[in-house]
Amino acid sequence: MGGDLLFSDAPAFDPTTRGTAESQGRAFGDNNDGMSVMTRDGRVVLVANNEYINPEHIWGNRGCANAEGKMEYLPETDDDDVVKGMMGHGVTVAEIAQVNGKWQVVKDSPLNRRINPVTEMAITGPVAGHALVKTGADAAGTTVLGTWNNCGNGQTPWGTYLTCEENFNGYFYAPEGHAMPAEMKRYGVSIDSRYGWERADVRFDLTQEPNEPNRHGYVVEIDPFDPTATPKKRTALGRFKHENADVVVAPDGRIMVYLGDDERGEFLYRFISEGKYSATGDNSDLLENGTLYAAKFTADLRGEWVALTPQTTGMEMAEILVHTRQAGSKLGATTMDRPEWVASNPRRVESYVALTNNSRREPGKTNAGGDAMEAVENSPNPRDKNVYGQILRWTPDGADHTSDTFGWDLFALAGNPTVHDGLMGGSENVNAGNLFNSPDGLGFSENGLLFIQTDGNYSNEGDFAGMGNNQMLVGGPTTGEIRRFLVGPREAEITGHAWSPDRKTLFVGVQHPGEDMGSSWPGPAGSVPRSGIVAITHDDGGMIG
Ligand code: FEO
Ligand code: CA
Ligand code: CA
Ligand code: CA
Repeated sequence: MGGDLLFSDAPAFDPTTRGTAESQGRAFGDNNDGMSVMTRDGRVVLVANNEYINPEHIWGNRGCANAEGKMEYLPETDDDDVVKGMMGHGVTVAEIAQVNGKWQVVKDSPLNRRINPVTEMAITGPVAGHALVKTGADAAGTTVLGTWNNCGNGQTPWGTYLTCEENFNGYFYAPEGHAMPAEMKRYGVSIDSRYGWERADVRFDLTQEPNEPNRHGYVVEIDPFDPTATPKKRTALGRFKHENADVVVAPDGRIMVYLGDDERGEFLYRFISEGKYSATGDNSDLLENGTLYAAKFTADLRGEWVALTPQTTGMEMAEILVHTRQAGSKLGATTMDRPEWVASNPRRVESYVALTNNSRREPGKTNAGGDAMEAVENSPNPRDKNVYGQILRWTPDGADHTSDTFGWDLFALAGNPTVHDGLMGGSENVNAGNLFNSPDGLGFSENGLLFIQTDGNYSNEGDFAGMGNNQMLVGGPTTGEIRRFLVGPREAEITGHAWSPDRKTLFVGVQHPGEDMGSSWPGPAGSVPRSGIVAITHDDGGMIG
């Protein structure tokens, strides 16, 4: 759970003060999201992203009624409250072990580590050293502090973890009247920092370090088995609001990474490495160089990957990788309904992406780059004011993920057939027994079952009647059947999952329970609700999925 100790000499979570910067920095972070369970030399580590913080909980001791009488929770002290918020972000690496049948953190393991917004990292790939990533503190443009808003994840066949920087934009500050450059606006960088980090670190002040936002929004590669290893920002995978990183080894050994940019009307991407994977060789630089592509869909159930290169975009390589959205717009990439996780089927050459929803899709509306966003009939994004979301599947031509062309279909169009007819009623595999909205996390079991997690409207009313809380479902790629697997606590999102090495435990993330103070999960009534990870086993001890 958020605040649980990784080291026995740190103070235990204090429900009154909600801890300190120091205690949070040595404990499991807040709002766990994507995660992996990885093994090496008989040791098992859980690596989990800690996406953001809930002010009402982490600063629950700082509540104050505002002018309208509504309670607000703001950091009071710069050196402790603000920094505690920073320390709730990032990535947690924890060795875990099963003791008397229960998984627990191995406290004080030398592998336990917090990677946070001030951890030193290397900028690697074509962007390293470019003028766009140079700052006062890093004149070389090669070393950056930290990662934050780590959403989904990925893992590589060579045993490293990929953490994906999503809403990195919301952490910067500037005074009223600051002239925001267009390239920053495309990424939603604004003058209102979410948690006041400029009070603790000057680089979050855009007037001091105008290039700092260009150093975030990447996929970061981490070796969880070497606590001294410097995490590497892999700029070759582009800069956008990265959701997850779905890694596939192509038949010729090149590494493919499918990537979604979670924003209304932004794009779906893939990366293909220049080098090839070798089970016995050195793969440490495979994500250093390669080609990035954006997806273009056509209404005849076909699509293609268009390469983002200096030749096709007229931009230099480093610029493509910093201003990736602009490069995608130049090539007419398809504006999507918020691409969240991508997952590839280990049993068939096909991939799936959760397009979570897009309430702003309608005629006349555009993404932040001016690309049209109205619904297109018989396309992957067929509905205006799409409050439900859909799961898109594509099948590469020639059963090869490196093909530039593919066929596609909608595996599921979420909807509510008890309320609506037509497209808003959803696809045929959606029924009163499995109603859901806003698919987000996706992942396959080794047997080829698609696990689907939701981050949606949990009002259980109106358009969402009968959907209940956020949940996890399982889909059969061949049959199309979708069934509920679990339902989360109130005011939570279900996100992130990983199997134990023996596949008998499925770890599932519960994020922001009680985000509106309506749950005390996982404690009894009156407890501070805390994001956490549940371990699910079969009563008969069998494998899951
Ligand atoms: Fe952090 Fe797009 O979800
Ligand atoms: Ca998500
Ligand atoms: Ca989401
Ligand atoms: Ca979330």
